[in-house]
Amino acid sequence: MAELIRISPETDFEEVATFQRRAFGHDWLKSERRRLQRAEYYQWKYFPPAGPAWLAAARSQRTMIAMVAAVPFAVGEGGSTAWQICDIATDPQFRSRGLFARCLAALGEAVGNDRMFCFPNRQSRSGLARAGYAVRTVLRIQAQPLGPAGRRLEAARAMSASLAVCETAFRVDPGRHFHVRRSPDFLDWRYGRHPLNRYVALHTEEGGAESCVIVRHLLNGRAALVVETWSGSEDAMGAAREAARRWAKGSGCWVLLATDVARANTGPNKSAARARLLPWDVVCYTREDAAGTTEGLHVQLGDWDAV
Ligand SMILES: CC(C)(COP(=O)(O)OP(=O)(O)OC[C@H]1O[C@@H](n2cnc3c(N)ncnc32)[C@H](O)[C@@H]1OP(=O)(O)O)[C@@H](O)C(=O)NCCC(=O)NCCS
Repeated sequence: MAELIRISPETDFEEVATFQRRAFGHDWLKSERRRLQRAEYYQWKYFPPAGPAWLAAARSQRTMIAMVAAVPFAVGEGGSTAWQICDIATDPQFRSRGLFARCLAALGEAVGNDRMFCFPNRQSRSGLARAGYAVRTVLRIQAQPLGPAGRRLEAARAMSASLAVCETAFRVDPGRHFHVRRSPDFLDWRYGRHPLNRYVALHTEEGGAESCVIVRHLLNGRAALVVETWSGSEDAMGAAREAARRWAKGSGCWVLLATDVARANTGPNKSAARARLLPWDVVCYTREDAAGTTEGLHVQLGDWDAV
């Protein structure tokens, strides 16, 4: 049986971090994940403004051998909650015994009828599908080369705005999508208080419409990543993209990485699950709420705990 724990300040975050490092192993491709696998990261991540996370774990003689976490977020305007499933891991010596499946089932019971979503890697996708999850959205990473890096421009620093300036832009959503709510508390927690990543908010206005784009550096500052963009109009969206490009170039990056929604599955048709995926696609799976609501959760890269 999986034990179910509501995360509290007494949770042993060092145990979680040590276990994650052991389960994931270490190779250079995973170095970004490895950088995050520290106690302070879980101590931050498991206390978002919507409340503490749930942790399902299995133990053998008191030693953790499997775990999965569910982190809550406020979605839409009606006070509902969606839970991000993350930190899926089983000790290499205890795999293929159904421990992941059991931890996931325990979390499913803990959160009742709420929506659940996950950005899984390839190893856990079949287990999620077996538990009733389906591909909801495919975010495709596009790379824009920026040419030879010039001198780092002070202008890049001057362009950045505080998250408070961006709040109006975050409330603009012409598509009226159903998404994780960008409340001031959420923005402060997600981008202002991340213990290991630094983010920059860029604010633009075009034709009276505001935009905000959140960016960060990757690969020792050689790449810039657009984490999320909110815009009141198509023109304003173009201005936001241009602001991200100028910031990346001005801060010495060689390439700008951003995502397009390659596929969003908005109804019962599960064609997105069968569509061909590219190795660098970021795939979001969801388990819809048991009430059978078909309104799809609209996600951006910033909803993913790994960026
Ligand atoms: C992904 C991961 C958590 C799966 O953990 P697990 O505990 O082995 O998962 P399960 O045992 O529930 O399922 C794994 C497989 O064993 C099979 N299985 C389950 N119980 C079994 C049993 N009693 N006998 C034989 N096979 C069994 C399942 O059908 C499943 O098969 P599949 O891979 O073909 O879908 C594990 O591989 C892992 O920790 N990987 C490294 C970390 C990682 O990448 N995590 C994902 C992050 S998104």
